[in-house]
Amino acid sequence: MSVTIRDTMTDSALFGNQFSGDSWSAWRALLAGFYGLELDEAEQEHWQSLTGRTEPTQPHDELWLAVGRRGGKSQCAALLAVYEAAFRDHTDKLSPGEVATVAVLAADRKQARTVFRYVSGLLRSNPMTEQLIIREDKEAIELANRTAIEITTASFRATRGYTFAMVIADEIAFWRSEDSANPDSEIIAAVRPGLATLGGPLVALSSPYARRGELWEHYRKHYAQESSILVAQASSRYMNPGLPERVVSEAYERDPESAKAEYGGEFRTDVESFVTREVLEACTRPNPLEAPRDSDHTYHAFIDPAGGGADEFCVSIGHVEGNRLAVDLVRGRKGQPASITAEFADLLKEYGIRKAQSDRYGGDWPRDEFHRHGITVEPAGRAKSELYGDFLAVLNSERVELPPDTVMFNQFLNLERRTSRGGRDSIDHGPGGHDDRANAVAGLGAAVRQTRPKAGAW
Ligand SMILES: Nc1ncnc2c1ncn2[C@@H]1O[C@H](COP(=O)(O)OP(=O)(O)OP(=O)(O)O)[C@@H](O)[C@H]1O
Ligand SMILES: [Mg+2]
Repeated sequence: MSVTIRDTMTDSALFGNQFSGDSWSAWRALLAGFYGLELDEAEQEHWQSLTGRTEPTQPHDELWLAVGRRGGKSQCAALLAVYEAAFRDHTDKLSPGEVATVAVLAADRKQARTVFRYVSGLLRSNPMTEQLIIREDKEAIELANRTAIEITTASFRATRGYTFAMVIADEIAFWRSEDSANPDSEIIAAVRPGLATLGGPLVALSSPYARRGELWEHYRKHYAQESSILVAQASSRYMNPGLPERVVSEAYERDPESAKAEYGGEFRTDVESFVTREVLEACTRPNPLEAPRDSDHTYHAFIDPAGGGADEFCVSIGHVEGNRLAVDLVRGRKGQPASITAEFADLLKEYGIRKAQSDRYGGDWPRDEFHRHGITVEPAGRAKSELYGDFLAVLNSERVELPPDTVMFNQFLNLERRTSRGGRDSIDHGPGGHDDRANAVAGLGAAVRQTRPKAGAW
């Protein structure tokens, strides 16, 4: 008899010490049903409330989970990884020399480290699995049975050329990338061929976020439907009853909309996309990335300063042509603010610009620093949300020409509008995202309008 996922969670000779308690009963029912095991009555109740489905009859190909924070997702991701790698035999389907990889893709390094610690901890908690380990480094653990567990951040590099026994996508609703507006879709599409050889399952677990992306699409199509793609949804405390009620109620008091998603496991209804891809594409010129100065035009600039760290220090330059604002360039730089200021000041002078606007939260430092280079910088009159709000009308009516800058494009595409009851809408980047280049371009729009109050559209 082969070991089942339920055995690993209940048998004290396996990982029963960790997963056999009552607090893990919802997880045990869900994972047993996912592998098509027969459920007892209590498990059946969990199954129905988690998935909206009748009894499982066979193993599923995919598991998509919308579960609140602290609900045990990463811990169970680690258990699944260890189960697939250590307890399932893939060798008959492997070519000589081929290794079956269980890949765990996390939203960022910190989360990848958390899952790695869970995986390593599980393997080492049991002498039987511990002795399987033949190599362990920072991202991978190789086992003696020709399997390996690799834990990395979600990226395209991480997904090519592998034969996967299982792919686990942790916090997929929060994957972000500078190179792609939809890293979740692109990475999932990239790993599917690698799963095909072994018929390995795909498991995506995340706290839910907005009503878009792969998690939402799978939820929308497959929740409570009978299909080989299993979708489950639960609050944090349903999956982890040990989570203190206080933590949850305080979150609801602070921000109910956010807490409904973070701890309630529900998709947010107050977060919408700011602009569509089609609208942005219609406004984007194919080339050049940066248009050189033309002495017939008068140029304007907007600066979004940053003082090091993860944000980019950005500048955008543009001019008005007819009823359109042509954005000649947008640049983003990371590094030493003083040297970036010097570079940007030279750039502005190239375009004959002596006066620019900047983000109004930039503080005095950028103004003083640009002043030293002979450029006058004034703070923008409006807040970021307002700049974006105005810029949307400009985008929708194609009164702007954008440069083909991928980072800026994806930043615009990932902007979110949040409606707040009673208050005004706010427009900003999503969790973990950036919008510095988009902000510089929208700011340019407002700055130009200010200097040409009577000139029609611009
Ligand atoms: N059902 C449970 N019973 C007992 N402890 C649990 C349960 N679920 C989670 N825990 C504990 O709660 C902590 C958080 O678990 P884990 O990191 O797996 O959750 P998560 O859903 O990935 O959280 P996050 O949303 O913060 O990433 C861990 O210490 C874990 O052991
Ligand atoms: Mg987690």
